[in-house]
Amino acid sequence: MKALITAGGHGTRLRPITHTQNKHLIPIANKLMLAYALEYAHDAGIDEVGIIINEGDTSIAEAFGNGDSFELKIKYIEQSAPLGLGHVVKIAESFIQSDPFVFYLGDNILVGGINKFIEDFKANSSNCHLVLSKVPDPNRFGVADVKDGKIIGIEEKPDHPKSKLAVTGIYVYDSHIFEAVNNIKPSDRGELEISDAHQYLLEKGYSVSYSEITGWWKDTGKPSDLLEANRLVLDNIKDEREGTIDEQSTVSGRVVLGKGSHVINSNIRGPVIIGENVTVDGAYVGPYSAIGDGCKIVNSEIEYSILMHQCRISNISRRIEASLLGSDVELLRSQSKPITHRFILGDQSRVEID
Ligand code: TTP
Repeated sequence: MKALITAGGHGTRLRPITHTQNKHLIPIANKLMLAYALEYAHDAGIDEVGIIINEGDTSIAEAFGNGDSFELKIKYIEQSAPLGLGHVVKIAESFIQSDPFVFYLGDNILVGGINKFIEDFKANSSNCHLVLSKVPDPNRFGVADVKDGKIIGIEEKPDHPKSKLAVTGIYVYDSHIFEAVNNIKPSDRGELEISDAHQYLLEKGYSVSYSEITGWWKDTGKPSDLLEANRLVLDNIKDEREGTIDEQSTVSGRVVLGKGSHVINSNIRGPVIIGENVTVDGAYVGPYSAIGDGCKIVNSEIEYSILMHQCRISNISRRIEASLLGSDVELLRSQSKPITHRFILGDQSRVEID
């Protein structure tokens, strides 16, 4: 069994962060998003992984190299343009050859790994195994029409969904999927849709089985999804404190505090992860915050947020909440008169002030 993992795409919904970095390298609980997929592949006994990247994007290979640190053999496959998930599968045929494989969208995070889905695929001896999850807003996804325990149809982003069962970004296939992606036509938006490939398999009488995710699963397309995935991962962290905490500070709940970090006269309320060489001084860091390496938080309050590395926050009077800060971002209280708001914001930045 091989794995095919996506790390291409446009990432438009995560701008401006994705203007300067691939979304699959955004940290969730201080771990690169794509690392979750690679760990799940390894845990499922897979040793060969193909990663789809946008043409010319070297950042993913710089982060994961040849896969040695995950005990995987990684091959990077360039996609000329984001032409759809059907296109992703199509260009991976020479890498996959005739092996069965897991197709995993690299922006999906779930609890419990993927072993169960592979086992279900094998137990069903099916040609295609889909992983479904009940969602409140199925019209954002491919939606499965299920009757008597069998999938009888798949529709992509339907206006009138036939069920609440979204097709998640984890699929297990045998090589019949290549017949499907080589026979479908681009959709109105010009993409080879993976839902059309699934529908093709159903219409040709191939067997399409499914598992339903019982734990949580998150497709991290939007900033609010990232914060939610971060929350869900932090819910399972273990207390691990390597940095220093002075006597004036209170640290409660499960908190990871990295090497070389210092908590001074502050209140940390877990679950929280703080990276290495971070200073928290006269500050409050509340539940579901992930603070990247080298950040400095002084006289400010932060909760339910992700700070990538080297951010500096100082003397901000209102609590910062539900925020996503890219690396090297500075938020400071103005020191000179007149007191004004001064912004240097990249394209498509979002700021809310009182
Ligand atoms: P999407 O979330 O559907 O698309 P996107 O990442 O381009 O984001 P947005 O809609 O905000 O512009 O993609 C799902 C996953 O598949 C994600 O890991 C990106 C990847 N992908 C490719 O690698 N190639 C493609 O052609 C497409 C459409 C997506």
